[in-house]
Amino acid sequence: MAVEEGKEPAPVSRTNQVRPLPLRLLQLFVLFLFLCIGFSVVSLYTIRHFGIESTVTAVKSNFLPCLEESNVSLGEWIKAPVDLMHSMNDEELFWRASFVPRIKNYPFQRVPKVGFMFLTKGPLPLAPLWERFFKGHQGLFSIYIHSLPSFIPNFTHDSVFHGRQIPSQVAEWGRMSMCDAERRLLANALLDINNEWFILVSESCIPLYNFSVVYDYLKNSKYSFVGSFDDLGPYGRGRYRLEMAPEVNITEWRKGAQWFEVDRKLALNIVQDTKFYRKFKEFCQPSCYVDEHYFPTMLTIEFGNSIANRSVTWVDWSRGGAHPATFGGHDITKEFLAGVLEGNCSYNERSSSICALFARKFAPSSLQPLLSLASEVFGY
Ligand SMILES: *[C@@H]1O[C@H](CO)[C@@H](O)[C@H](O)[C@H]1NC(C)=O
Ligand SMILES: *[C@@H]1O[C@H](CO)[C@@H](O)[C@H](O)[C@H]1NC(C)=O
Ligand SMILES: *[C@@H]1O[C@H](CO)[C@@H](O)[C@H](O)[C@H]1NC(C)=O
Ligand SMILES: *[C@@H]1O[C@H](CO)[C@@H](O)[C@H](O)[C@H]1NC(C)=O
Ligand SMILES: *[C@@H]1O[C@H](CO)[C@@H](O)[C@H](O)[C@H]1NC(C)=O
Ligand SMILES: *[C@@H]1O[C@H](CO)[C@@H](O)[C@H](O)[C@H]1NC(C)=O
Repeated sequence: MAVEEGKEPAPVSRTNQVRPLPLRLLQLFVLFLFLCIGFSVVSLYTIRHFGIESTVTAVKSNFLPCLEESNVSLGEWIKAPVDLMHSMNDEELFWRASFVPRIKNYPFQRVPKVGFMFLTKGPLPLAPLWERFFKGHQGLFSIYIHSLPSFIPNFTHDSVFHGRQIPSQVAEWGRMSMCDAERRLLANALLDINNEWFILVSESCIPLYNFSVVYDYLKNSKYSFVGSFDDLGPYGRGRYRLEMAPEVNITEWRKGAQWFEVDRKLALNIVQDTKFYRKFKEFCQPSCYVDEHYFPTMLTIEFGNSIANRSVTWVDWSRGGAHPATFGGHDITKEFLAGVLEGNCSYNERSSSICALFARKFAPSSLQPLLSLASEVFGY
């Protein structure tokens, strides 16, 4: 008995500390009841003193903002982000960018846009030329800039480049960080449902035709413009590693210039890829320059029939060496530019005199002569 009595207090004090569930529910219920009664009393009081009208108005004015917020149109849901800066990391961003509508008919007037993705170190010395190119074509293009994270842009408010910076990270030539930057640009551009074509350009690129010509060329093409060829030499297949198989066989190994143009379907595929990404990250490291192989190879395997296998960005390798020629102020003449424009290419299985829409590489000193010749030679 004494032992049992000694044991007795323990359970009691435990009950005091943590009440059993039914008791707590009862307490909550009582509290709720009091709140209800309190609210009713206050309501009755206000109605008696201020009349039903004003009480209803008071309740409305308290709760209506919530109702109004929930009455959002489709336009609100699909609006492209105004502020391009965000705190998403790549994993979060790529996931968000991979959203795809399953119903193919857009229930709104969709005007497809060209996403111009500037992969730069910092400033855009040729910006005034681009400004002229874009002038008057608002609504048909979007601009995205990926630069060194340390770079602080100083574009004025009236510039098309103002506020177009995306969250960036250091990107090194020939390394996966370069492809990461390109995928980051694509992912940010994909967040705007109206972007249909995505073109990668650099600070040394210039447009060779007016905006309408460029827009129609991309819009009417059956193919995306990704350079892709089978280079049998040491700088092509020579960079292939057997570990790439079975995802990539040597016959599927491709090489191409970094400066691509892809449509929305291919852009989505590049952003969502994990299968090839892992292989290239591990087995294509310098002297395998991953930005020359990853997208061309992957797209050839998965969408070989959707790419034109050529780029729309002109570049001059004729001087030889590891880098293409850079053109400065003294190079810019009408004759030189006529040579750049010259061409005969396959476009939708027919021959076209327009091969390149853009050209590189142009030094800052070329800006003034280009501006003076642009309207006559390029039509803008
Ligand atoms: C929601 O907004 C539309 C137009 O903006 C309006 O016609 C409609 O009456 C509103 N619906 C409600 C429940 O407020
Ligand atoms: C922005 O900075 C660059 C130097 O980094 C300078 O040349 C340019 O004039 C500046 N532009 C404006 C609009 O302040
Ligand atoms: C663009 O250039 C093309 C070909 O030179 C010309 O036919 C067209 O009128 C130009 N468009 C504009 C808006 O300047
Ligand atoms: C690569 O080759 C192997 C064997 O020839 C084959 O089984 C595999 O399907 C090929 N991979 C691709 C992606 O075509
Ligand atoms: C591009 O090359 C692939 C093979 O690598 C081929 O299947 C495709 O037809 C080519 N595209 C065009 C437009 O010729
Ligand atoms: C362009 O090339 C095609 C085939 O390569 C040829 O048939 C055509 O005559 C050429 N066009 C011009 C203007 O040289």
